[in-house]
This record gives sequence, structure tokens and C-alpha cells, in this order.
Amino acid sequence: MSALPKIRIRGLTKSFGSKTVLDGIDLDVEAGTSFVVIGGSGSGKSVLLRCILGLITPDSGTIEIDGENVLTATPARRIALIEQIGMLFQNAALFDSMSVADNIMFGLRAKGRGKAHRLTKAQAREQAGDILKQVGLDPTVGALAPSELSGGMQKRVGLARAIAGTPNILFFDEPTTGLDPIMGAVIDGLIVDCVKRLGSTAIAITHDMASAQRIGDQAAMLYHGKLVWKGLASELMNSGNAMVDQFTHGRKDGPIGMELRK
Ligand SMILES: Nc1ncnc2c1ncn2[C@@H]1O[C@H](COP(=O)(O)OP(=O)(O)OP(=O)(O)O)[C@@H](O)[C@H]1O
Ligand SMILES: [Mg+2]
Repeated sequence: MSALPKIRIRGLTKSFGSKTVLDGIDLDVEAGTSFVVIGGSGSGKSVLLRCILGLITPDSGTIEIDGENVLTATPARRIALIEQIGMLFQNAALFDSMSVADNIMFGLRAKGRGKAHRLTKAQAREQAGDILKQVGLDPTVGALAPSELSGGMQKRVGLARAIAGTPNILFFDEPTTGLDPIMGAVIDGLIVDCVKRLGSTAIAITHDMASAQRIGDQAAMLYHGKLVWKGLASELMNSGNAMVDQFTHGRKDGPIGMELRK
């Protein structure tokens, strides 16, 4: 195991008004491994990823990528560190006004990575077609608008956009939510394949325990702003932790009560 985790988080806190969402998160993700985060709806899983991505500024704590604190780095270094991340957003978050191909190439263009900004339109389309094939879609899909795709196809395009540019780090926010079980397994297979093929480090958020065990090496559960359990993803269904057990087995009764969200 390498001494330096790819991602190292210490004491991360974030509140919105009086609502504390992250309350001292410590997390190490070793290079080349996949870390799964589970937790109830509204527990702060997406906020955690958004903090690492720099889309939300935390109140305190450190976020290190390759040993460098993203929060105190110079703007140029911060961009360089965050540019390593490819993200599959919850709900895919494709740009409706752009074609599928332009969506896929957007990240590459924005980052100027792979000299994509110098590609001709035809070259860009061809490159997008290659990436579409990697996620099991026909290159002709590139000419369509996101609104012309099924939910499962949109997830695949979101995945294509995330892996375009072969990022060192991949974030997946509920990659299988809303998909049929077979499509979910297909997407998981694609994720595992991408992580293995690219040798990337991944963080995946999921409510889907089958998916968590397929995708993850390590796992943790977020509850009331803290990671209340960390272990192997393969232990999720028999962790010996009452909260994790209740969550992963979907039991109504247990230490986690029904709470009104605000
Ligand atoms: N920009 C924001 N401004 C104010 N509150 C926010 C903001 N983003 C998130 N929150 C709040 O933070 C809490 C955690 O939200 P988050 O989206 O991280 O939940 P989640 O664990 O991803 O839930 P789900 O499983 O439903 O996606 C919620 O109560 C949400 O209302
Ligand atoms: Mg979320």
C-alpha cells in the first residue's frame, strides 16, 4: 500500500445556515482503488464530492490530492489538481442544448486536455464516437440531443463524458439510480472496466448495495455528518455495525430513525 493516498481528507466540515451537513470527515482513498460512500438521502454524500471538486467551499478541514491541499493551493495548482477528476453527476447533468458528442467533448475542450481544442469538428466527432463505443453506444448517438435518449443511455453518455480525457480520478454520484437491474449491472461493469483500464482512483456514491459491492474496494457510511463506519465493500451486508446493517438490509427499525428533512 502506498504511503501517500491519492485523496486524503481531514476534518472536513460544511454547514448551510444552521444545518451541519459534514461534521469532521476523515477519508483516505488509496491510488488505484474504488471507495464507495453510502448513506441516507440528504446525508451529504453529494456535498462531499462537490467539496472535493471545488464546487462547494467547505468551512474547515483539508482536502489533499497527491499530498497537496486543494483548498490552500494557488488557483493554477488547484485547477491542475481538480482537472484530474472526471465526474458522473447524479442525473447525468448533460447540457440539453448540446449534441451528445459535444457533451462528451465539452470537458476535454474546457480543460484543453489532449489538445482537443485544436481538433477539427470531424476529428472531435470521431473521438467522441470512440468514447461512445467504450460505453457500449453506437457512434451515431453522438449526433442526437440528450433529450432523445433513454435514462440509461443518458447515464452512459454521462459516463462517457466522465472518462473522456482518461482522468486519474473518477467520481460517480449514484450511477445506477433509476436504471433497470440489468442496465445497472452493465453500467457497474463499465465503471469497473474504466477504473481498471485507466488505473484511476474512484469514489462512488450509491444506494444500491449490489452496485456498491460490484464497484467498491473500500466503503464507508455517512450519517449525521460523520463517517460512522469504514470497511471493505465486501463486508457491507455483514458489517457488524447496527447502522450499516439497518441501511444495507433496508430495515425500517433500528438505530436510524425516520427524520423529517429540512
Ligand atoms: N448549495 C446548497 N445550499 C444549501 N443546502 C444545500 C446545498 N447543497 C446541499 N444542501 C443540503 O445539504 C444536505 C445534503 O445534501 P446532499 O445533496 O449532499 O445529499 P445526498 O446525501 O447526496 O442525498 P441524495 O441521496 O438524496 O442524493 C441536504 O439537506 C441539502 O438540502
Ligand atoms: Mg446526492
